[in-house]
Amino acid sequence: MLAALERSGNGVGRGVISLGGGALGSARVREALKSHTVVLLDLDVDECWERVRGSSRPLAADREKFGDLYESRRATYSAVADAVVPADGVHVVRQALPAIEMLTRSPDGTRLIWAVTASGAYPVFVGEDLIGVEFLRPEGRFALITDTNVGAIHGSNFTDPMVRIAIEPGEAAKNISSLAGVWSQLAQAGLTRDDQVFALGGGVVGDLAGFASASYQRGIPVSQFPTTLVAQVDSALGGKTGIDLPEGKNYVGAYHQPSAVIADTATLRTLPKEELSAGMAEVIKTALISGGPLWDMVSSGSPVTGSMVLECVRTKLAVVAADERDGGRRQVLNLGHTIGHAIETATGYSALRHGEAVAVGLMAALKLSGADALRNQVGELLSAAGLPLTVSGVDPAKVAELVSVDKKARADGSIPFVLCDRPGNATHGHSVSDSDVRSAIVEVCR
Ligand code: GLY
Repeated sequence: MLAALERSGNGVGRGVISLGGGALGSARVREALKSHTVVLLDLDVDECWERVRGSSRPLAADREKFGDLYESRRATYSAVADAVVPADGVHVVRQALPAIEMLTRSPDGTRLIWAVTASGAYPVFVGEDLIGVEFLRPEGRFALITDTNVGAIHGSNFTDPMVRIAIEPGEAAKNISSLAGVWSQLAQAGLTRDDQVFALGGGVVGDLAGFASASYQRGIPVSQFPTTLVAQVDSALGGKTGIDLPEGKNYVGAYHQPSAVIADTATLRTLPKEELSAGMAEVIKTALISGGPLWDMVSSGSPVTGSMVLECVRTKLAVVAADERDGGRRQVLNLGHTIGHAIETATGYSALRHGEAVAVGLMAALKLSGADALRNQVGELLSAAGLPLTVSGVDPAKVAELVSVDKKARADGSIPFVLCDRPGNATHGHSVSDSDVRSAIVEVCR
């Protein structure tokens, strides 16, 4: 179901037109909608079927045909929708309305995904040149937390913060000492619970600033301004925040959903080539989880596009909406991460970028999945993106030991693995024998 708001000079539409999904089959309708802000009220296929089955509607007759129709329309819906809001009831749409109104005033091509989780909802804006658009940001006083590289390039878009805090770039800075420094600077600047943090940077900044916000004065709001591909498609979304310990990656942290995520895809053009490549590992992982149009886009070898980022955002947010606290389905987002994280820890968080370790971890996870053809295909995609498939100088025994203390370890000491045998079919909670894990590690740690 779609709603279209007519755009007018001041950005506020004169009314709402409600359309059934079939309307987009008409080219004339699609053309007419170009002067409207189109909102897709999103529902997964099973829920859609539950709502229509047993009715007299012709499409309610056959579940399989219904599913095919849903699939065939997905790409068109995604192409036309300016905003995607879960169809979870009128209160959700009401909550999203101010963000939809902001969208009507945003730079052309900006998209909005309304993120819903058990602990809160927030807008995710994706588009070009959004970083300086002040009306997209939550209002009020803020502290800016960034790193020295990103701060030098994009920091001037933020005027009059209460304090500018710049940590060292790189995963090695995601530690307790940087965090303590941030807490002190927030306190010295006089931040109160009425104030907020803006996190500007990649995954390290987002995770650390998010955790500083989750813990400072028992919690103040944070908005995420992700500037790397890893952060835009993964780490800035879903509220996981934290720091690393020498003993383990992301070992200390909290769930703290952001107030807003503003992903300016123009910032990706300022990234070092290696950092953009590293992000492709998370894009490929997300496409393996989603299958469908995102996998088609990614497996075609297309370079990163705004639509690719957007589809990754939708995939991740749908997973988090179903399981905010990682009790089940969310674990699929860890595809390739169990061994990837162990490699990062084994190398002191300084030898590899997170995405590079995930690339190696994906190869190991697909080996464990017994999906050789898919593994070869993913290997080609990762290599084409400039990513490693193996890592040298790392002791496989050390990696195996670190896998065994992964923070998802069960009480009986076993480690649940995420496996994927085909795009769109990543599943969590698999028990894998120690010897299989060891041989998968040996194959990627040379
Ligand atoms: N990056 C994995 C997650 O957000 O669950």
